[in-house]
Amino acid sequence: MASKLTISTTVRLASGYEMPRLGLGVYQTPADKCEALVLHAFSKGYRHIDSATAYRNERPCATAIAASSLSRTEVFFTTKLPPRLRGYEETKKSLNNVITSNPELEGYIDLYLIHAPYGGRTARLGEWKAMVEAHKEGKIRSLGVSNYSVDHLNELWKYIHEEGGGGVLSVGQWEVTPWLGRRDIRKWCEERGVVVQAYSPLVRATRFGEPVVRSLAERYGATPAQVLVRWSLQMGLVPLPKSVHPERITENADVYGFELSKEEMKELETDEYSPCSWDPTKEPL
Ligand SMILES: NC(=O)c1ccc[n+]([C@@H]2O[C@H](COP(=O)([O-])OP(=O)(O)OC[C@H]3O[C@@H](n4cnc5c(N)ncnc54)[C@H](OP(=O)(O)O)[C@@H]3O)[C@@H](O)[C@H]2O)c1
Repeated sequence: MASKLTISTTVRLASGYEMPRLGLGVYQTPADKCEALVLHAFSKGYRHIDSATAYRNERPCATAIAASSLSRTEVFFTTKLPPRLRGYEETKKSLNNVITSNPELEGYIDLYLIHAPYGGRTARLGEWKAMVEAHKEGKIRSLGVSNYSVDHLNELWKYIHEEGGGGVLSVGQWEVTPWLGRRDIRKWCEERGVVVQAYSPLVRATRFGEPVVRSLAERYGATPAQVLVRWSLQMGLVPLPKSVHPERITENADVYGFELSKEEMKELETDEYSPCSWDPTKEPL
């Protein structure tokens, strides 16, 4: 099954929309380089870009879509509510601003995520309410959250299904790597049809020297980065590798010529809790 994965493989979200299984992350991609890098990614088959208002590069992502030969509907564009903005009004303002400042998005964002669960229950549920309204107005196609703990997820699920909040939770985004399995969160999502995106899937290049990664890379004539992207895809995750080097963007998507066996997938997994990024799942309810 996994061998049939290609760069064009998509997953159907609870919203009914298709999302490409591999995305290009653009955190820390400088705005002045971003358009060219996104265009390069498009030329290599990427159709999914993961930005955020906090990354300050939504604009070059949007102009890249317009400068490419692709139609808007061929590209899946994600952005996120900045962690410093909170609640209903600020969410409305922030997401409307993304749309009005970027006419190349043609009036909608494919996936909008709450970047982090900060600010308490009222803020979080207000953010969701604003997103549900924006969805009804056609401004957001699919809704999701990032860095939510199981407790934050349960709070939202109850609001959606029992407290009249409404809306559909389609996607969650977390750091998930062999050194940060997030088993509780993945199980929660699997049971409810929520697709899990994996950020920092290359562990920010800090684990390329791990013996198991190196030996698998040698076995398949692949690079450590390719082994980690492949692990993520075969875990059923949606990896979002980032690079500012065109040749690495190419490399990170050239992962469809080999398949890790079940045993090799297990060999890579650990019981570690070793984030390489921040971890806002620790935010109390
Ligand atoms: N929701 C959240 O809170 C959150 C948090 C973090 C990240 N994200 C998303 O996830 C994306 C990816 O995560 P990330 O940027 O933290 O880390 P990552 O993709 O795991 O790693 C990026 C690092 O690896 C290097 N790299 C990339 N490809 C390589 C290759 N083939 N060989 C050697 N080095 C390589 C990059 O360097 P160069 O750029 O110099 O090539 C960069 O230093 C982000 O861009 C963002 O879209 C979301």
